[in-house]
Amino acid sequence: MLTNKFPKANLAHLPTPLEFMPNLTKHLNGPKLWIKRDDATGLAMGGNKVRQLEYYVGKAQADGCDALLTTGAVQSNHVRQTIAAARKMGWYVEAQLEHRVDGRMPEYDNSGNPFLDKLMGAKLHYYPVGEDEGGADQAMYDRAEELKKDGYNPFVIPLGAVGKTPWGALGYVECIEETLLQATATGMKIDAIVVPTGSANTHAGVLGGVIGLGLDIPVYGFCVRRDMYAQHERVLVKTRKVLQLLDIDENAVTGDMVKCDDWVLGPGYGQLTEEVEEAIAMLGREEGILLDPTYTAKSMAGMIRMIREGEFTKDQNILYLHTGGTPALFGYPELVAGK
Ligand SMILES: Cc1ncc(COP(=O)(O)O)c(C=O)c1O
Repeated sequence: MLTNKFPKANLAHLPTPLEFMPNLTKHLNGPKLWIKRDDATGLAMGGNKVRQLEYYVGKAQADGCDALLTTGAVQSNHVRQTIAAARKMGWYVEAQLEHRVDGRMPEYDNSGNPFLDKLMGAKLHYYPVGEDEGGADQAMYDRAEELKKDGYNPFVIPLGAVGKTPWGALGYVECIEETLLQATATGMKIDAIVVPTGSANTHAGVLGGVIGLGLDIPVYGFCVRRDMYAQHERVLVKTRKVLQLLDIDENAVTGDMVKCDDWVLGPGYGQLTEEVEEAIAMLGREEGILLDPTYTAKSMAGMIRMIREGEFTKDQNILYLHTGGTPALFGYPELVAGK
């Protein structure tokens, strides 16, 4: 494995299934559609962050840490999975919830992920300014200094990309190796991969893995938080860092290999759009697969549009990476209002 030399904690149920989606393939009448079920990574309802946490927690363990600190939106899946990872390790944990989404119903603040965060007994802080990534990270580093005075050795998992080592992205290098083995065993050749792209650990890990394995597979990232220009830069910088970690020339990734589309973002992070609602309904009805409004429905909507615009041929195999997020559905009761 490309990631063998890095410390890692066992937190996820792996391998996750690679499944064909026959009904969706028929419904969209386009390429053959496959799904990698990283919503099924297990820990406290799973999702993509569990694979990332395996490497963050591995690093923290190697550094002798005994507490985790992180930050995310109120309905953050990352926060939920970080709290669960700390609990599994028997560590102390604190999380900061950022107010990123305006105008939501009360369920957004209380149901789904924040409900589960409280259930696992984490100490929660609140950060009022939602689009101040650097400030939100800094508040966590400041809190870490206080915890040190209380005798803890905390490890901060930041969301910012600048100057930070993307340990978590290694989880997605590993995911690509795992997926390739599964695809080869079923005789399937992957022609394209579709992912949501936020902090970009998933996108950079997948792209770094594709490059590291010498594959020529385009990776399409659909933006969930920032515009495509800002996201392109972030993914490029992170992928270079991933390649450095893997002892591969960082220039093996070039700008044209980083594909980011922000069409699906709509009015912004965590906001519903017609296309998001369509994707959630389509996957539920065609395949019994649940998508969340913030990440997976946006990237699925992007893939649906590419198919409708004829970007793929019928003999191609497209792999959609399901990154989880299902608990956040409970923060959007209007999705079924009147049904
Ligand atoms: C369900 C889900 N999908 C995708 C993402 C984005 O992944 P990344 O932050 O690695 O870009 C997140 C991030 O929190 C998530 O919770």
